[in-house]
Amino acid sequence: MFQRFRRTRLNGHLRSLVRETHVNVEDFIYPLFVRSGKGIKTEVSSMPGVFQMSLDEILKECVELKKLGLYSIILFGIPDVKDSIGSDSLCEHGIISTAIKAIKKEHPDMFVVTDLCFCEYTDHGHCGIIDDEKETVNNDATLEISGQQAVIHAKAGADMIAPSGMMDGIIETLRDSLDEAGFENLPIMSYSTKFSSGYYGPFRDVAESTPSFGDRASYQMDPANRREAVNESISDELQGADILMVKPALAYLDIVREIKDATSLPMAVYNVSGEYAMLKMAGANNLIDYDRVVMETMVAFKRAGADIIISYHAKEVATMLKGKI
Ligand code: PBG
Ligand code: ZN
Repeated sequence: MFQRFRRTRLNGHLRSLVRETHVNVEDFIYPLFVRSGKGIKTEVSSMPGVFQMSLDEILKECVELKKLGLYSIILFGIPDVKDSIGSDSLCEHGIISTAIKAIKKEHPDMFVVTDLCFCEYTDHGHCGIIDDEKETVNNDATLEISGQQAVIHAKAGADMIAPSGMMDGIIETLRDSLDEAGFENLPIMSYSTKFSSGYYGPFRDVAESTPSFGDRASYQMDPANRREAVNESISDELQGADILMVKPALAYLDIVREIKDATSLPMAVYNVSGEYAMLKMAGANNLIDYDRVVMETMVAFKRAGADIIISYHAKEVATMLKGKI
């Protein structure tokens, strides 16, 4: 026999006591784009509120971030000179290396994650070295210089390395290179399940990294593949990744949940540029209640299984969370 109960509605304070998912300022990593020069803070037209900044501006920005309780950033570099192998990223005096050193010197309490890839540094805009005949990225040649880039970041003082190029075997290569150079305890957050996505459009404006020919489909994943998505992340776990990631976030929350259930590693989502731009534009045109939708979106990431959220909304969310208390 089926017995019917009348359940009490949990209102008011009790509603927050029983809430299953919480968004905290500590969950966030905020992306920053550094370029050379002085006093430069250029807003990206497709991403209102996101800027390319010179290092002096980045240092000021860190002060603002800390006031909001945000202590973690992920750094992207925009070099003055791009070439076929992305030399700037392999040089101790390159933009990223210089930026890490300056940030860690002035703000030792900031946790600095570095995006490790070549697309921002190559003149062709691909994520590695190109095979001339084939016009595709040469995986193994790219692995070799990726190891060098990781050690450059480590020596400059990076707190965590985040390879985003989706090269096969990258985690094992980086772990070996870092260990050999004496950085056994430097963690790797892998962009382990990264889809070939239209949502990266605005980022490529900021990072000036649109490929000059072809696309990234030969190394990034097909959005239609669910089992492959899980396998990619598990393969990185087996190679020694410390944190796994799904990117983009919104259209892939099923994948986040599935990987979360298949691993015991912490998980990150990257709430990418196109996702940010969509909410911004809808908000600016009064089509949605912007703050409410942003928060709802962040809760969804956590509910799906994300421990870490990389998001251009981080400052806004931090401000909203402050207002709550
Ligand atoms: C570089 C990289 C990309 C993003 C982060 N690292 C772009 C790409 O693959 O084209 C995208 C981030 C975003 O869209 O916000 N490999
Ligand atoms: Zn790349």
